[in-house]
Amino acid sequence: MKNSTIESFSGIRKAGSIASAALDEVTKIIKPGIKTNEIDKICFEFINDNGAYSAPLFYRGFPKSCCTSPNHIVCHGIPKDKVLNEGDIVNVDVTAIKDGWHGDTSRMFFVGDVSVKAKKLVSTTYESMNKAIKILKDGIHIGDIGHTIQKHVESQGFSVVRDFCGHGIGKIFHQLPNILHFGEPKSGERLKSGMVFTIEPMINEGEYGTKLLNDGWTAVTKDKKLSAQFEHTVGITDEGYEIFTLSKKGLDFPPYQT
Ligand code: MF3
Ligand code: CO
Ligand code: CO
Repeated sequence: MKNSTIESFSGIRKAGSIASAALDEVTKIIKPGIKTNEIDKICFEFINDNGAYSAPLFYRGFPKSCCTSPNHIVCHGIPKDKVLNEGDIVNVDVTAIKDGWHGDTSRMFFVGDVSVKAKKLVSTTYESMNKAIKILKDGIHIGDIGHTIQKHVESQGFSVVRDFCGHGIGKIFHQLPNILHFGEPKSGERLKSGMVFTIEPMINEGEYGTKLLNDGWTAVTKDKKLSAQFEHTVGITDEGYEIFTLSKKGLDFPPYQT
């Protein structure tokens, strides 16, 4: 049986399209003055209205339905009563569970007009993820993914976060293998047709060091400079790969024309 039709792929495809469509909805409301809590509400309602559950909600005590990570927040920011201002960049990370299967994806958003530097960081992050996705096929090594990302990011003068990685995904939210976003070619495990995992590079404007805030979740850059991230859930097929979390509206990368 072709793996594009196996149960895991069809399940994750459905979950991924709900997560991705939730981000399409978020696109409509991002503007100066909105609160990250309002983003959370959209995600919660959209996912529920589509017969799915939000995986982050109550996951290891996480209190909300998505992660919102503006500016120097690297990942796992908690939506709250905080206003986004003109010039901010923000990552929104959504994971839906549909029929027991997970789909995990995140995108960056521009709040109004943003600096040239911020735009370059965001586009470099997106390019690095896409370059890594394009090499995916049965038989390559996990290290090839990290190497592809690291090479591109460092050529642009940015750095790859070491403290968080992509992950296998399926009926379980986070499982092996770990997908590091830096590394050596031909190192690590080989990819096999049927594997499903995320690629979710976190890229810093300055140094790659991070620290965890007292809430136990929010990771920030040590040097307080900007950080950006994109995430797709992907599967290895007999022919190459499938991306489960593409936007059906083409809203994969900002600025979004809506
Ligand atoms: N979606 C995140 C990831 O890409 C995980 C968020 S876990 C949470 O793996 F609890 F912080 F929501
Ligand atoms: Co993930
Ligand atoms: Co995610």
